[in-house]
Amino acid sequence: MTLPATLPDADEKARVVEAMFDRIAPRYGLINHLMTGGLDVVWRRRAVRELRLPRAALVADLACGTGQFCRALRHAGYRTIGVDSAAGMLARASGADEWVRADILDLPFERASVDGVTSGFALRNVVDIDRCVGEMARVVRPGGRAAVLDLAEPRPTTRWINSTWVEGVVPRIGALLSDAEAYRYLPASTAYLPDAASLVAIFRDAGFTDTRRLLLGFGTVQLLVGTRA
Ligand SMILES: C[S@@+](CC[C@H](N)C(=O)[O-])C[C@H]1O[C@@H](n2cnc3c(N)ncnc32)[C@H](O)[C@@H]1O
Repeated sequence: MTLPATLPDADEKARVVEAMFDRIAPRYGLINHLMTGGLDVVWRRRAVRELRLPRAALVADLACGTGQFCRALRHAGYRTIGVDSAAGMLARASGADEWVRADILDLPFERASVDGVTSGFALRNVVDIDRCVGEMARVVRPGGRAAVLDLAEPRPTTRWINSTWVEGVVPRIGALLSDAEAYRYLPASTAYLPDAASLVAIFRDAGFTDTRRLLLGFGTVQLLVGTRA
């Protein structure tokens, strides 16, 4: 994998990412809505619908940020645990029944202890995607579900619109309202993600044997859904 010069390598990534999310926490939700025209809410709701778990099922939202997914999960009738490593994000979070500050690569949960997991826009921020998905598979009970959102490499037909937006507009909104460096990092960090087939294979190999990949937002966002075997 060749990374753009702006991206840290694995050794410094965890430290850089945690410090960055602490810095941008105060306006994280607002900027998310501005950057996506409110579509981020629609994408999370879609992911929650794809869980198809019984009411009051227990869902861990991994890398919960300020609780965007947790609120959507609660709205759908699930019980939720929000997990994040950035204290600044958790300090501003709302929507979960319980909060846990932890590394999602090393979850403090028993094997098969939750009915489902969600995660939004976090895969590309971890230092080891296989391990992250492996932890999801470890904590979800057999028959439980995972629904994971992240950015996607856009199709050739929409690539120019996407690059104008994410390389031109997003860093300007970020610089104006929050932290210029962070909002250059966030779109560029898509380069950490493996291609579509490899990502689906990671989920299947981890134990989500029926994994499907859906494209949302004109192909700019991917949703991986699967059932724990
Ligand atoms: C782009 S934000 C996404 C927040 C939220 N999931 C959403 O849908 O908007 C990424 C989040 O991942 C968290 N994060 C990144 N690496 C992590 C790790 N290894 N363990 C726990 N949280 C992590 C960051 O602190 C941040 O809150």
